[in-house]
Amino acid sequence: MMTQGIQTVSYIASSILFILSLGSLSNQESAKRGNIFGIIGMIIAIFATVFGESTEGHTILLIMMAIASVIGIGIAKKVEMTSMPQLVAILHSFVGLAAVLVGFGSYMDEKNQLISGAAHTIHLIEVYLGIFIGALTFTGSIVAWGKLQGTIKSNPLIFPFRHTLNILMVVISIGMMIGYLDSHPSAGLNTLIYMTIISSVLGVLLVMAIGGADMPVVVSMLNSYSGWAAASAGFMLSNDLLIVTGALVGSSGAILSYIMCKAMNRSFLSVIFGGIGNSSSSIQSAAITGELKPVTIEETCDLLKEARKIVIVPGYGMATAKAQHAICEFVKKMKDQGKEVTFAIHPVAGRLPGHMNVLLAEANISYDIVHEMDEVNPHLPETDIVLVIGANDIVNPSALEDAGSPIYGMPVIEAWKAKTVIVSKRSTGAGYAGIENPLFFKENTRMLYGDAKKSVDALVHAI
Ligand code: TAP
Repeated sequence: MMTQGIQTVSYIASSILFILSLGSLSNQESAKRGNIFGIIGMIIAIFATVFGESTEGHTILLIMMAIASVIGIGIAKKVEMTSMPQLVAILHSFVGLAAVLVGFGSYMDEKNQLISGAAHTIHLIEVYLGIFIGALTFTGSIVAWGKLQGTIKSNPLIFPFRHTLNILMVVISIGMMIGYLDSHPSAGLNTLIYMTIISSVLGVLLVMAIGGADMPVVVSMLNSYSGWAAASAGFMLSNDLLIVTGALVGSSGAILSYIMCKAMNRSFLSVIFGGIGNSSSSIQSAAITGELKPVTIEETCDLLKEARKIVIVPGYGMATAKAQHAICEFVKKMKDQGKEVTFAIHPVAGRLPGHMNVLLAEANISYDIVHEMDEVNPHLPETDIVLVIGANDIVNPSALEDAGSPIYGMPVIEAWKAKTVIVSKRSTGAGYAGIENPLFFKENTRMLYGDAKKSVDALVHAI
């Protein structure tokens, strides 16, 4: 059994490793090291908690951990990179559910009912807030999972007075807390149950109101909520490490949400309350003019032969097609022919922050040719070919030109400014936001139909 002193030292070591992990994850080159810091920190944290002086019931704990590890390893081995966002969302929901269960457990624990005075009030508030944030995170994350998985329609659920209803639910929950602080434990338990129901409904409504293209912000926001839910569980369990870890996840998730909002030109509050850009039914999307111009592999090779400067824009379709290794081969061939090839990465390309960067790194594509959207956009007019691979919403000119579009205002990669645009996708199908893309109909755009991996493989053989 570990003494209190050794446990405290282990918790400090874990906290430092978690901070180092977060720091390293901010850079692609140090990200692997960041993961290792995080893994070591978590092993120390679990070990110090399980074998700490105050922990009881080791047999059941170890059995549950063994079962959970088998399930976790099984899922991690099976999950496709394209399904990662859904997995992350469902894991957030577990954190929320855990906070709710810890809250009820802590409230019903007889030891805690013996506390008196200010300490008792503080404990009751911790329980109330922990369950509120936990329930909201739980149901919100399940809806986010459904939207990312495609089980729930990704169109925003907008109805009149929804803001009033949401605010009313928050106000009622706060009002109920005042009565709960003075009530007898059995009456308090009823209040907690009613508040859990209200908070769960609020979680569903908040995420249901958010439109497809705004989902990235929701995922990072729920990540932040799950951190605060974990921190509140840490308060209830008097576990300092859980408080520190929860606060780290909560604040880094909040910063990520802010960065994503800035990248998408959305206001943080408007995304939280949902339905931005979709609520006005009076604005109609502009009609698309022009025609689709299909191109063959041979014709694409001819265009590439003439090109000097090529920019590749990868999107979600590159991930589903697993085309990154073929693209790496393609880049090598193009470079051997003396062409300048770079990548343009949109902050919300794919389905996860950094999704494209991870896939390109997996294919050993050098970091120094992978650039952010803002660095590439000014140079597109001097670019000969933009090769769009399985991307759609992130190259949609409606975001800049059509005030009626649900993605209006979101910065995009301005591919159409290049001399020629070649779009590799299977059909004229829409992207995640479910809207048409006028880029495909522009005079200088050519459609290379087919699975992205097959098309790029064919290009590698033909050039
Ligand atoms: P999308 O707009 O989703 O477009 C992907 C395109 O890939 C589709 O139009 C599809 O067209 C094509 N595709 C699918 N499978 C393919 C295959 N095997 N080969 C070739 N093409 C294939 O992707 P995007 O441009 O990367 O934009 C991301 C969207 O997801 C944004 O709306 C963003 O807001 C949202 N989102 C992002 C995140 C994060 S954090 N990145 C999280 C949630 C949602 P076909 O069916 O015609 O092939």
